[in-house]
Amino acid sequence: MQRMPSPTPEQITEKLRAVIDPELRRSIVELGMVRSIEIKDGGRIEVVVSLTTAGCPIRSHFEQAVAQQISELEGVTEVAVGFDVLSDEEKGDLQKTLGRGKLPAGALAQVKNVICVASGKGGVGKSTMTANLAAALSAEGHPAGALDCDVYGYSIPRMLGVNRKPDVNAERKILPLEAAGGVKVMSIGFFVEENAAVVWRGPMLHKAIQQFLEDVAWGELEYLLLDMPPGTGDVSMTLAQLLPQAKFLVVTTPQPAAQSVARRGAEMATKFDLELLGVIENMSGFTTPNGERFTIFGEGGGQILADELDVPLLGKVPLSEPLREHADSGFPLVTAEPDSPASQAIRQAARGIVATTPQELPVLQAVPAVAEAPPISGTPLPVVQGGA
Ligand SMILES: Nc1ncnc2c1ncn2[C@@H]1O[C@H](COP(=O)(O)OP(=O)(O)OP(=O)(O)O)[C@@H](O)[C@H]1O
Ligand SMILES: [Mg+2]
Repeated sequence: MQRMPSPTPEQITEKLRAVIDPELRRSIVELGMVRSIEIKDGGRIEVVVSLTTAGCPIRSHFEQAVAQQISELEGVTEVAVGFDVLSDEEKGDLQKTLGRGKLPAGALAQVKNVICVASGKGGVGKSTMTANLAAALSAEGHPAGALDCDVYGYSIPRMLGVNRKPDVNAERKILPLEAAGGVKVMSIGFFVEENAAVVWRGPMLHKAIQQFLEDVAWGELEYLLLDMPPGTGDVSMTLAQLLPQAKFLVVTTPQPAAQSVARRGAEMATKFDLELLGVIENMSGFTTPNGERFTIFGEGGGQILADELDVPLLGKVPLSEPLREHADSGFPLVTAEPDSPASQAIRQAARGIVATTPQELPVLQAVPAVAEAPPISGTPLPVVQGGA
């Protein structure tokens, strides 16, 4: 009987392009993770895939995906998938492929997770959630920071109760301020006169955000939460370029009719290929002291959005006067009254975040040796530079 000729290495490589690393969101071919392809007699194909860590949890995903793709080729009788681990040098190359070379080595190197708190429209409670989630994470033993990316309407200094010009350390990095509970905080508000209107052009905005990521001594953090401005794509684009590993948390209100607007916030993330972490429904029903519940802003919107986006609904935070009062007075409710209903909902959301994010440093962000420290740029923030 005549046997089909075996496929060529090129045909196999072409097929392997369809195997995507679910974390890095690129093809294993593009990422240089295909170590070898061997074509044996009788149509047996042996492929070795290089992983970033030996205990890589997505091993079996690769195993199945590789076998499935190659077995679709004619002349293949058997597929064997083996694994090895990328060398440090190869990981460096991979890092370059991923475009992380844009930030100097070491910027955010000790920050395990960067989470953008976003929404499709303004006033849904992004800043309130950012401040309280950072405080809740920190209280549960997960060092957290809050970066105000809303350079036009910054509210993080007020909500976390810190506001002064930050100091600069010996390496000329800006030291974040520390709020109650040890939350590290950075905001453009620290650099401008109170109530001064900040007029930003696109490139300046980009530059300011970049400096907050590069020139701030964030140190070791498990979570850096980014308070996003309402409804603009500018900051998202900057972040997607600088931090392709950032994740999005979408805040929405409960009215089901508002979901098309809420989705816009999520679309920003998908457009820039950033991962969606989950949804928080804020301003869910209001419960009176005698236990009567009013669904002032409707009901069910958070769940609908989470289902549509196929991500978890991490929490439903009720309307709460103390939540607003504490945000106004600079001492987050989760710190002041950790057992109040709104605090409990936020703390639960914080635990949901912890459950869905890695606690390991991303492999691609290994802390560089001291000798490799980036040259001191010393570029002052645009605002400082402008003498505002
Ligand atoms: N669950 C809640 N209960 C009561 N008040 C709340 C709640 N969440 C937020 N607020 C209040 O609603 C107002 C808007 O919240 P916040 O500033 O956090 O929204 P935002 O999405 O950051 O707004 P912007 O889009 O303008 O940045 C604030 O006064 C805040 O204290
Ligand atoms: Mg805000």
